[in-house]
Amino acid sequence: MHAAVIPAADAPPVYRDHPEPAERHGDELVVEVLAAGLHHLTRAKANGSHYSGNGVYPLVPGVDGVVRDKEGNLRYVALDDTPLGTFADRTLIDPRRSVILPDGIDPVQIAAAMNPAMSSWIALRRRVDFHAGQRVLVLGATGNAGRMAVQIAKLFGAAQVIAAGRDTTRLKALTALGADETITFDQIGDAADVDVVIDYVWGEPAAGAMIPMLTARADRTAPLTWIQIGSIAGPTAPIPSAALRSTRLQIVGSGIGSVPARDILAELPELASAVAAGAIDVRARAVPLAQIAQAWTAQTDDRIVFVP
Ligand SMILES: NC(=O)c1ccc[n+]([C@@H]2O[C@H](COP(=O)([O-])OP(=O)(O)OC[C@H]3O[C@@H](n4cnc5c(N)ncnc54)[C@H](OP(=O)(O)O)[C@@H]3O)[C@@H](O)[C@H]2O)c1
Repeated sequence: MHAAVIPAADAPPVYRDHPEPAERHGDELVVEVLAAGLHHLTRAKANGSHYSGNGVYPLVPGVDGVVRDKEGNLRYVALDDTPLGTFADRTLIDPRRSVILPDGIDPVQIAAAMNPAMSSWIALRRRVDFHAGQRVLVLGATGNAGRMAVQIAKLFGAAQVIAAGRDTTRLKALTALGADETITFDQIGDAADVDVVIDYVWGEPAAGAMIPMLTARADRTAPLTWIQIGSIAGPTAPIPSAALRSTRLQIVGSGIGSVPARDILAELPELASAVAAGAIDVRARAVPLAQIAQAWTAQTDDRIVFVP
């Protein structure tokens, strides 16, 4: 079969022949890969910078995707750490880490959507005590995950969703997806009274937004939950200690490890159905896996989805 292979941490992927996978015990299934997304997590695991990676090379990247099993079922699968990912004609899955998809789904849409959509869906359902009627600020709302967070917060009954980012043109487009207000980072005081922050940015921009936002809060004793989900602007953020003392702020993270895998898996069928039903707008671009060398570093707003 063919696969994309990364020979070492600092090397780009190479499309080449690769040995066929073989089932070694009853918990493994060889499946045909139909579509697999190129997410930030995929790149970070492949280059060894993600905390959940195991640093074994050579590896076939690809952390998730839509696959077909021998019975013909389409499944979405989120792989555990493995040197054989989904960027291959066939791969090996633990069916317990997969969900059977509804009939008629578009594999490319699902493969593009599940990782970015899961970030806010899981955070709001499984990590914090979110309830309908609360107000939400999405920091870094113009990316794939941020756009979906706006839509998912609305889907879950948020009373108000404020979308924050740095690109005003992209921000404006979020109104059509349900954002009640769009603001740039320097207008963060306008979002002072939200109940939940979904933060994809972290780094200096998030830390810099915190004090102006907190000091503008009408009631500083009202609970504010800041969910750290992505760190696209920097892995560390200089949070002023006063932020934690002067308001009822709690900072929590949501990602692999902070929510049990069984809880994540339990949410996937409903999320997949929401994507399949068109309840979440998805930006996807299908690319043949053979073109991975060019696509690996491509700058694109659409989520690249490799099709073997
Ligand atoms: N924990 C989880 O469960 C989970 C799941 C999925 C994703 N994530 C993480 O979430 C983050 C976003 O993922 P994504 O799929 O949405 O990525 P994406 O589609 O590439 O979007 C990136 C977003 O980050 C913004 N951005 C980039 N650099 C920035 C900077 N220096 N300052 C401020 N904003 C900046 C971009 O803004 P512009 O539009 O202005 O360029 C865009 O909104 C990544 O860190 C990813 O690893 C976490």
